[in-house]
Amino acid sequence: MIKNIDTGCDLVIFGAKGDLSKRKLLPALYKLEKSHNIHKNTRIIGAGRANWNAQEYKKEVKNSIKQFLNEEIDDVYWKKLSNRLYFCNIDVYKTSDFLKLKEILKIRRNVTIYYCAVPPSTFDSIFTQLGKLNLNSNLTRIIIEKPLGISLETSQEINNKISKYFLESQIFRIDHYLGKETVLNLLPLRFANSLFYHNWNNKIIDHVQITVSEEVGIENRWNYFDQMGQMKDMVQNHLLQMLTIVAMSMPKNFESKYIQEEKIKILRSLRKIDKDNINQKTARGQYSSGIIKGKNVPSYLKENGSNQNSDTETFVSLKVEIENDQWLGVPFYLRTGKRLAHKYSEIVIYFKKTSNNLFQYSCKEFPQNKLIIRLEPNASIYMNILNKIPGIEEQYKLKSYLMKFNYFKEISSYNLIDAYERLLLESMKGIQSLFVCREEVEEAWKWIDPIVNAWKKEKKSTLQLYKAGSWGPINSNLMINKDNRKWNRFDKI
Ligand code: BG6
Repeated sequence: MIKNIDTGCDLVIFGAKGDLSKRKLLPALYKLEKSHNIHKNTRIIGAGRANWNAQEYKKEVKNSIKQFLNEEIDDVYWKKLSNRLYFCNIDVYKTSDFLKLKEILKIRRNVTIYYCAVPPSTFDSIFTQLGKLNLNSNLTRIIIEKPLGISLETSQEINNKISKYFLESQIFRIDHYLGKETVLNLLPLRFANSLFYHNWNNKIIDHVQITVSEEVGIENRWNYFDQMGQMKDMVQNHLLQMLTIVAMSMPKNFESKYIQEEKIKILRSLRKIDKDNINQKTARGQYSSGIIKGKNVPSYLKENGSNQNSDTETFVSLKVEIENDQWLGVPFYLRTGKRLAHKYSEIVIYFKKTSNNLFQYSCKEFPQNKLIIRLEPNASIYMNILNKIPGIEEQYKLKSYLMKFNYFKEISSYNLIDAYERLLLESMKGIQSLFVCREEVEEAWKWIDPIVNAWKKEKKSTLQLYKAGSWGPINSNLMINKDNRKWNRFDKI
């Protein structure tokens, strides 16, 4: 893969007017400018259906950055960024419009990156037009983002289409969770610390919990969300990606092929969930009206544009098992939902309980050691350790104390880098290890499809309502409680 670190590149953003571009990509590009990470020869070409000239586009970009970045714009860096901006009015169905783009790109023979910040329904046309006009040379890369299908079959269709014109080494599939600092820290935490490296298996670990709890609802995305549900919107990608990183074996090195290979092995080892075990291994829910941060919020069925009969889930929890020697007998409990009590995400590793006679009178019940990797908010790592309560008494009295590491407090230079900032930079460098390959996406769908199909057969019976602002449906607790375990509480670490 040709790198462009020394030469700069042309970054074409299809969907220049869209939400993703405005909320995420443009603020990220401004921040990359500010941290001197964009090569002086790099150009950014917004492409979309608007009759903007370059000046008008620049104005729009500045407004988006102002709106979505939590800081004042520095004129020096804005000027630099603004000098790179071009606009191309494109209807993705018109070859004549792509000829205009070709004209802009032709000026230089440079690495070109196409960012498809557009709905997947337009992917096919973009890939085909680029291919038809030979805008897909080995100097080009293409970035696509979910939804990469709504099932194995539809995701294969997208992958087949893109692979007609681009090699896998040119395709960058984004899962923004892979760009989060705390997710990146999972590999060093696991493999660079001997304590964890040697004890990361079913002899020592009891179970793992992964929670992504959101306060937001569906944010005016009814049409998109209702055909996805939380399972396809969050589990198929973000939660399964985190699970694979927690469970995978050490890759040979950081090259994408080795990392992806190890993640694929885990995805292939997931025990199937289907109609025969759906009720034991899953719980799903949909929010009814409630209160979030002191404000009344409507039920899912009363959201803008809703269809009153929908039985789409906005919450899901799952008991996932990995059928390999390392993890046999260690369940991974996943849970994620919208309109829950707090926005937070964490991975909790519960170590096995110990039992010994020495302290039988000091402690009624030995608490489990747990390692809490809090991704958000306040990126932190916690571990509880059983200690003697200081005092002169003869008897040992034990209590669990918490060791805390908070990124912001401990690392003075810690600077929160947005996931898109990092992933854009990686794509400019041509490094694919933080991106998802075709096989990963398809293996994930192979595991998800039977669950979704089993739910469909069960119809509404498996869907429980939960109040917005709560912790989800009761079945989610019952699912884990029947294994004599509890969800880790956000407020009680
Ligand atoms: C997106 C989903 O991929 O991730 C959204 O489509 C979800 O529904 C979002 O809200 C959550 O991302 P984060 O980074 O806020 O946890």
